[in-house]
Parts: sequence; structure tokens; C-alpha cells
Amino acid sequence: MSAKIIDGKQVAADMRAEIKNEVAELKKQNVVPGLGVILVGEDPASQSYVKAKERACEEAGIFSDDNRLSADTSEDELIALVEKMNNDDKINGILVQLPLPKHINESRVLLAIDPDKDVDGFHPMNVGKMVVGERAFLPCTPHGCIQLLKRSGVKIEGAKVVIVGRSNIVGKPLANMLIQKNENGNATVTVCHTRTKNLKDEVLQADIIVAAAGRPNTVTADMVKDGAVVIDVGVNRVEDASRKRGYRLVGDVDFEAVKEKASLITPVPGGVGPMTITMLLFNTLESAKRANGITT
Ligand code: GUN
Repeated sequence: MSAKIIDGKQVAADMRAEIKNEVAELKKQNVVPGLGVILVGEDPASQSYVKAKERACEEAGIFSDDNRLSADTSEDELIALVEKMNNDDKINGILVQLPLPKHINESRVLLAIDPDKDVDGFHPMNVGKMVVGERAFLPCTPHGCIQLLKRSGVKIEGAKVVIVGRSNIVGKPLANMLIQKNENGNATVTVCHTRTKNLKDEVLQADIIVAAAGRPNTVTADMVKDGAVVIDVGVNRVEDASRKRGYRLVGDVDFEAVKEKASLITPVPGGVGPMTITMLLFNTLESAKRANGITT
């Protein structure tokens, strides 16, 4: 039987409506959440992410301070802008779009962000807090995956989850979030990567598969147990002369074949993608509430 499609656009729209309502309530108390966005260089994928983030802020009523810097911006200039935002009361969240140009040390830039404004959850302080189970900003893409599972009625507790990919942005934080002793966690997690000996045997064990390897067709139908839930984090451009822009987007999962074995599956586009930005709005709102002593 063909899998039910998890509609990330719909889940994201529901959450964004909740966020927009909360932002409107805050405005009655003269609090306007603000996000500082910094993009260095002209990477086309990053440009389209950043544009979508800015549009989403506007729709939610969140102020966004958009900064496009040239590819030859120095590390010190970038850090100076981060520090200016750290000291700006109108800014509750700072987002430096990754990847940065090669001449810039990414770790140094992430360390410069005030952990209380680190709405990406990439600062080592937030990463450490997340790992030990303290309150922290959770990284947006993995948190978005968890929200998709929960809002689709998938039970995470006790599930065997296999994550394919060990990036700092998705695989590593998601594994940590899923093993926490809390309402997002209590799963049994395996993380697979390029040196995993028998990927197929590992993935076949999974009740929930998360593909985050950054390569098309990493998860094929022969690796999927009947009835598994499949979350595809991949966003890959493949050439397609039939499209006006010359390419189409595909995930890391062989969608057409895998959907015949899975019980639930996310499409690409329209699955995890819209959730990443939604969780960024969520963290920015959360940060504005914290900065104003509002706890929920
Ligand atoms: N590049 C790809 N994903 C992300 C993300 O979630 N945040 C930032 N800052 N850069 C990214």
C-alpha cells in the first residue's frame, strides 16, 4: 500500500498561524520580536533560503534586519556585525547563513553570537545544554523533523530510529534530541554515515528513518522495513532540462519506490523544508519572550 504523505507545508502553516497569534499578543505589550539575518556571498541556495526566511518573518509579524555582505567580507567585519546585533535590543535572534566562504572560520563566528540570541542553536553553549537536557534553543531542522513526527501522530518513545548522516546541523543534534528523557525523545537511535559497514542492514531495522546525507537515492526501497516512517531532509538540485530553471529538487530518498513500503513519508519539496523556517520563527519568538521576562 502506498504511504500517507506528511504535508510539511500544512504542518508549517498551522504552526506559523500559532506563532503569528502569539506575536500579535506580544505586540499589545509593545514587544516586537526581531531577527538579524546575515548572508555572506552569493550562493544561490543560500540566497533562496534567506529570502524565504525574510518573507516568513514578515508574514508572522517578526521584524527582520537583513544584511547581505559581499563574498570578500573579512572574518573580523562579520564578527563586528554579529557583535553589533548582540548589543541591539531590537534583535532577539541572530542568524548567520551557513556555509560561509572558505576564508572565514565558521566556529569563530558561531562563538561570537550571544548564546541568548542563538536561534539556530549552533553555539557550543546551546549544543552542550541540549546534550545534558537543559533548556536550550534547539536547532531548527532537527526540531522541525520532531514536530512533523509528533503532529503526524508518530510515537517516538521506544521507536528504533536510524539517522543517515552525521552533520552538525541535522544528524548529530537530532540523535541527541531523540535520546533525551523527555517528550521529544526516549527513542533508540543509530547514526549511520559514510563509514558505516552495512547501511542497508542498519536502515532495515528502523521504525523511523531520517535521511540527512545530502545525496540523492541514499535510501532505497530495499533498505526500508514495511510500514516504516520516512523523513527526508535532503535538498539536492538535479539537472532537469524540462524545467525552466534547468533543475529540480530531490531529497535523499528514492521517493517513488520507498513510498510503496513506508506507512508515512515526507516529500521534497514540501516536507521538512517549510518546517526549518517555522522553527526559526518559533525560536525567535521564544527568545523575545525570554528577553522580556515572559515565560509560558
Ligand atoms: N544552512 C543550511 N541550513 C541552515 C540553518 O538551519 N541555519 C543556518 N544558519 N544556515 C544553514
